[in-house]
Amino acid sequence: MKTDNSLNWWRQYGKYVLMATRYHDQVIVAVDDCTYRDADGNEYLDLNAGTMCALVGHHHPQLVERMRRQLDEVIHTGTSFLSPVVFQASAKLAEVTPGDLQKSVFFSTGAEANEYALRLARQSTGKSGVLALTKGYSGLTWGMSALTGGGRHARPSLPDVGYLLTPDVGDCPPGRSLNDWMLELFEHSLELNRGLLHNVAAIIVEPIPSTGGMITLPDGFLRLLRSLADEIGALLIVDEAQTGMGRTGKWWGIEHEGVQPDVLVAAKGIGGGFPVSAVITTGRIADDVARRMSHYSSHQSDQLAAAAALAVMEIIQQELLVERAAEMGAYLQAQLDALAARWAGLRGVRGRGLMIGFDVVAPPESPLDETALGEALVEFLHERGVHAHPLKNRFRIMPPLTIGRPQIDRFLNVLEEALRALAADRLRPHGPRSQQAAALVRQRYGSPLVHAAQWAWTHSPQELVSKLRASLSGNVPNGNFRKSTQSPSQTR
Ligand SMILES: Cc1ncc(COP(=O)(O)O)c(C=O)c1O
Repeated sequence: MKTDNSLNWWRQYGKYVLMATRYHDQVIVAVDDCTYRDADGNEYLDLNAGTMCALVGHHHPQLVERMRRQLDEVIHTGTSFLSPVVFQASAKLAEVTPGDLQKSVFFSTGAEANEYALRLARQSTGKSGVLALTKGYSGLTWGMSALTGGGRHARPSLPDVGYLLTPDVGDCPPGRSLNDWMLELFEHSLELNRGLLHNVAAIIVEPIPSTGGMITLPDGFLRLLRSLADEIGALLIVDEAQTGMGRTGKWWGIEHEGVQPDVLVAAKGIGGGFPVSAVITTGRIADDVARRMSHYSSHQSDQLAAAAALAVMEIIQQELLVERAAEMGAYLQAQLDALAARWAGLRGVRGRGLMIGFDVVAPPESPLDETALGEALVEFLHERGVHAHPLKNRFRIMPPLTIGRPQIDRFLNVLEEALRALAADRLRPHGPRSQQAAALVRQRYGSPLVHAAQWAWTHSPQELVSKLRASLSGNVPNGNFRKSTQSPSQTR
């Protein structure tokens, strides 16, 4: 169906939207299981489960019903009150997490839960440092961005943060033993962080670093981290925001390695689309820290969030979604492997359960770089009703765990069509199809002259001090000061 309804929404209201990221032009008005429907009546197969959150399918009736019931009871109380549903969700989380993880607290986002997990580790160990993977992702709050992606989003970074080189299996030099290479990187990492090792409160790791490129870690790496944590007296925090709750074919990604973490962070899928995250730790750590540390966040262990988490965990158990993720994931991987055998443009099929990555590679004569190639493929899929969200040319497939064979086959057919077009060098991005994205680019990369003027202005302390003085002595009318600092073009 082709109407302009989506664009009309943007035309009427777009000027009120802060373009915090690159939004699609399609305005979504309905969702169901693995499908989005936009305001123009087009349907899309969602291969991303929203932002990897709609684990049990969009709008699962049992989830909606449980939350509706909770809406009639209690949505929120002050942070210092709990309600029955919070106790029930905590008990369920203890039931489905490994080993002696037992006590939990709920928050809203993954970054928020990670922040709390680090506070917990610092209190528990009396140390302040953190070790994260160079290709790890912990979120984009101020603190978590110091850990994410080697801290490249954090300038300046936080003190006492160190990075461990990521043994990405895909980077192992040909002919090298994977195990030897991993150990060499590990040794090098310890050398790099030599000055910090005595002061590490926590090592934080994702069982499959997803945003770093859907990275496969070598067998034994998580066990190495466990040993390192024990050796230096740090806690091992496993961030299961993406790998958790059945996604990899086990309840938790860490279970594939049989490693017992001290703290587990659940986020994204645990709320089934509602903002919920959780930190779960052992009774010993929780009780010890509770004596010294109080934590407060406005939506800590909210009733509605707990209801969502409880419903999601119950649905996963009732519908055997962990087993289903293993089965559907094995099918999808096998079919992708078969496609990779037929088409040189598809490589590096990897992952576990329904957490699958692959890379798309252009033929040597193609003018497309990795970003343009990824965009061209996304557009190709979009036009044929399939929604994917790659990192440049690295694709991550993480659909709701309810996805079935017919939907997987539909995706595979469209992907093969795209690979055929790629092999014939017919795959091209159409340019800035997204009018909103084009506007964002203009905003971000405005004139270099304006940037230079802005830099000069904000880096001129004498001018700033004289301006402040004038403002304090009342020479500058109230409000003018702020305006003039924001707009260099008006001040120069
Ligand atoms: C492994 C991991 N940790 C933490 C986060 C941050 O979660 P949120 O975006 O909910 O803050 C993400 C988000 O993608 C993630 O993938």
